[in-house]
Amino acid sequence: TAVYPFYGKHQAGILTPAQDRLHFAAFDVTDGTSRADLIELLQDWSVAAAAMTAGRDIGDYGAVSGPYDAPPEDTGEAVGLPASGLTITFGFGPSLFRTAAGADRFGLAARQPAELVDLPHFPGDMLDDARSGGDLCIQACANDPQIAVHAIRNLSRIAFGRAALRWSQLGFGRTSSTSTSQATPRNLFGFKDGTANIKAEEPAAATEHLWVGSTDGPAWLAGGSYLVARRIRMTIETWDRSSLREQERVIGRTKGEGAPLSGGTEFTEPDFEIAGRGDLPLIDEASHVRLAHPTQNDGIRILRRGYNFVDGNDSLGRLDAGLFFISFQRTPQSFSTVQLNLARHDAMNEYLKHVGSALFAVPPGAATGSYVGAPLFA
Ligand code: HEM
Repeated sequence: TAVYPFYGKHQAGILTPAQDRLHFAAFDVTDGTSRADLIELLQDWSVAAAAMTAGRDIGDYGAVSGPYDAPPEDTGEAVGLPASGLTITFGFGPSLFRTAAGADRFGLAARQPAELVDLPHFPGDMLDDARSGGDLCIQACANDPQIAVHAIRNLSRIAFGRAALRWSQLGFGRTSSTSTSQATPRNLFGFKDGTANIKAEEPAAATEHLWVGSTDGPAWLAGGSYLVARRIRMTIETWDRSSLREQERVIGRTKGEGAPLSGGTEFTEPDFEIAGRGDLPLIDEASHVRLAHPTQNDGIRILRRGYNFVDGNDSLGRLDAGLFFISFQRTPQSFSTVQLNLARHDAMNEYLKHVGSALFAVPPGAATGSYVGAPLFA
């Protein structure tokens, strides 16, 4: 099974072929933690992440070889399992640089990127503070859910006393492709998702739309990216009662093949001009694909890397289901432009509720022997 190195120019888990499973966690740095403690935490996290992504236990002794009278260094549930394509991606939230009250806890305020501020409130947002924000984030993706959970569990344990879990999210099926070698998966609306995504085979698009450039902002972030996470509840009971015609109108693509309603096959470019009956465009003015398309958004593209979730049900017997949307982009402004367009006009809004939101600056990859985010503290 796949092994993705932890150290490198960019962090893994962004352009890496999207794995099937996710455990995402946001942390708040614990009161009393110093700048030196924070650096030590990032160092400890990096060493552990390098071990786990290579398929090894963490620590000197791992799960079962340590002193008999001490808690094992590794929690053990990954023993005997392969690396399963595990990637661990770290990010820094706006509140790491400056608290809501303006405090510069770690001497980082001068290095806060101008764009790393809370996302604007979008029309229709119903955000829950307990599912939003965070000083730090870790995205663990793998092809085995146990491996992704093991990673977050052990990193949370390492953080004890320095950073505490604020919120976390499991995802059980990818809703994107980030490589042309992957088949397009489906989201919980039953539609193919990820067709028009940025793919690893488009390096020019990645340079233009994904990675922070060396002259974009603070030098420490060059080669990094911005991660947006949105917990989007899907009212699937209502969706499931809508006609196939309505479902395809809302998306702007066919449900079976995923082809644009203007014709062709899955990867045919949509044609928004072609009209059908009554001179109406074949791809509805309010369809998701039209409103999210680069031609409607100043040429903007983003890299989507989200996951399906079902977290039990609510008191009305409706599944608490949806899409844990994750996107990476060179600037948060790209996400906001597209999201504002969608929030205002998307026919899909009838079936959606945005309940969680977070933005993180994702530093470049760590050099071998160094730790993630080192240039920020240099
Ligand atoms: C395309 C579903 C939320 C941005 C698509 C497609 C589907 C889909 C089925 C067409 C296939 C594809 O190209 O991947 C959903 C669902 C959502 C959601 C179910 C929420 C639960 C969002 C959000 C954004 C977004 C929040 C960004 C703000 C895009 C973009 C495209 C796209 C940029 C590609 C458009 C193109 O270039 O043709 N989405 N989406 N989506 N979506 Fe979403």
